[in-house]
Amino acid sequence: MITYPQARTCPYQPAPGYDELREGPPLRKLPLVNGQQAWIVSGYEQARALFADSRVSSDRTNPGFPMIMPPAIQAVQTSPNRPFLVRDDPEHNRVRRMLISEFTVRRLKELQPEIEKVVHSTLDAMLAAGPPTDLVTAYSLPIPSLVISRMLGVPWEDHEFFQNATRTVIQSKDPETAGKATGQLLAYISNLAQDPPPGLIARLKQEQVETGAMTLNDLVFNSLLLLGAGHETTSSMISLGVLTLLEHPGQLAALRSDPDKVPGAVEELLRYLTIAEGPMLRVAVADIPIAGEVIKAGEAIVIVGSIVNRDPDVFADPDRFDVSRGATHHVAFGYGVHQCLGQNLARTELRLALSALFERVPDLRLAVPVDELELRPAMTIQGVNALPVTW
Ligand code: HEM
Repeated sequence: MITYPQARTCPYQPAPGYDELREGPPLRKLPLVNGQQAWIVSGYEQARALFADSRVSSDRTNPGFPMIMPPAIQAVQTSPNRPFLVRDDPEHNRVRRMLISEFTVRRLKELQPEIEKVVHSTLDAMLAAGPPTDLVTAYSLPIPSLVISRMLGVPWEDHEFFQNATRTVIQSKDPETAGKATGQLLAYISNLAQDPPPGLIARLKQEQVETGAMTLNDLVFNSLLLLGAGHETTSSMISLGVLTLLEHPGQLAALRSDPDKVPGAVEELLRYLTIAEGPMLRVAVADIPIAGEVIKAGEAIVIVGSIVNRDPDVFADPDRFDVSRGATHHVAFGYGVHQCLGQNLARTELRLALSALFERVPDLRLAVPVDELELRPAMTIQGVNALPVTW
């Protein structure tokens, strides 16, 4: 019998331990690693139905919630000031509406020239330093980090601190070390929020905190979510995206021959890689009849995004990586009220970062075999911490 979660053995394939989930029912009750029983959802139709169901809660303080996140993240997510990602409506929506204007398609169109400059200057520096290099440090991590720091008003000179601390929170096996890093990040943002430089934190402080619509503590916790989600996820997608394209030279050639294919290729990479399985956790707050079963109030729900995004009823020949597939309806950003707030930002960064890299570095290649790459553990943002490349 399988348990959840399980680690990947190939950076761009779901954990092999999930193969069993591809057969049989679209949801079933199984034990989690902590011994708790949960409804494990592997069917696309059922995943979307549950994501969109108001009888399903994201609030980690509800009894029965699947508590399998790393302890430091769990501590933030159950705190009284927990961010809106882990709250239900109407509280979740109240905060989401304060932020949404910063992340719309229109806003991202305005920001595109600035993001393009960030991409090219990062690439200039990488090329000037010469090969070989670690693509994560030289390219994938600086681009989204620079963009989100500017949006929030986080000083760039602090990037090494917040990048390292975020990584420690997400990945450290030692709960004490991860807890300490969380404390440092919260103290850093609290300090910044006293007199924030221009940006979203300053705007929220002025418009929401000073009018009494949000507490200063809530501003700090939500800003921490934006800073962390804003750089770790997209960074992982750029690295794994490059790796996946290099490993599929026919698809890379198709992409190079037709730049109009870039947006479609980004959607296919999001589907194929489904890097953010950790956030897809829920608990039922009322009985939910679904697929011939009844999920009872108080029962844990785990949506296995990497398998849902390979449901053959929705994505033909789902294990084939195909940049021309038109995979826009994947659940890599979730679905329903919590669907990723930063998805337009992530898409813009991915499109610009991938096209610039493959255009300006035509003979880019991996400097080590794929099976030598160190993969991140289960329940973290999936990816690699280093990607040695040369050209
Ligand atoms: C490719 C990169 C990204 C992926 C794969 C990703 C994935 C996700 C997923 C799966 C969710 C839904 C969680 C749930 O349903 O519980 C989510 C929510 C969220 N993401 Fe992203 N994300 C990415 C980039 C970003 C960026 C760049 C930001 C920028 C700040 C961001 C901010 C957020 C926020 C604030 C939420 C919570 C939304 C809500 O609860 O209403 N994400 N993301």
